[in-house]
Amino acid sequence: MKGIFITFEGPEGSGKTSVIKAVEERLKQQNKNVLMTREPGGIRIAELIRNIILDVDNVEMDLTTEALLFAASRRQHIVEKIWPALNEGKIVLCDRFVDSSLAYQGVGRELGIDRVYAINQYAIEGCLPDLTIFIDVPPSIGLKRVFSNGRKVDRLDLETIKFHEKVYLGYHELINKFPDRIKVVDGTQTIDKVVENSLEWIYKIIK
Ligand code: TYD
Repeated sequence: MKGIFITFEGPEGSGKTSVIKAVEERLKQQNKNVLMTREPGGIRIAELIRNIILDVDNVEMDLTTEALLFAASRRQHIVEKIWPALNEGKIVLCDRFVDSSLAYQGVGRELGIDRVYAINQYAIEGCLPDLTIFIDVPPSIGLKRVFSNGRKVDRLDLETIKFHEKVYLGYHELINKFPDRIKVVDGTQTIDKVVENSLEWIYKIIK
């Protein structure tokens, strides 16, 4: 595919969403052809699947079901939105992608990174990002930010601090596993600095 696929990852409260918006603006000012998206990406079927996963009433959800649903939602988002944009040569910036499943379901839920990767292989067919920016904020700081900024709290936010610590360690396992693809930016800095550091990595792969 002609485009460039960049994903942003991070634990709760890492500030990912604000960082991506700022990165998108900067690239657009430089007349880059950018598409910003986030799972489920406004894709109707993907949204419907996501609502089932995040519904606070679905307490009996099996963990593998959860992983399969994230993969299914991801699949629809890729097919309807990401692949067409990459085919048109766009720079696609995506807020969370397969690494979220590997960290949250693979390590947080203890399904295993390899097992969750296998499930996701059906969804992504080998379409891994060209670059993944990991915004690194330890869970103790991230969760404090989430609960103080008034964002709507979903089912996964309500997990224990232990869960979020596992997710965080999971991300670090992924960073060690894919050092060429996943680049770490210190998310405890000011937002401007986080944006600058992210752009430095991005400029290395775009022309
Ligand atoms: P999201 O809506 O992206 O929230 P945010 O990025 O603002 O935290 O994700 C909602 C929750 O779903 C979040 O706790 C991360 C979790 N999640 C997974 O567990 N697995 C996945 O594959 C994805 C994409 C998200």
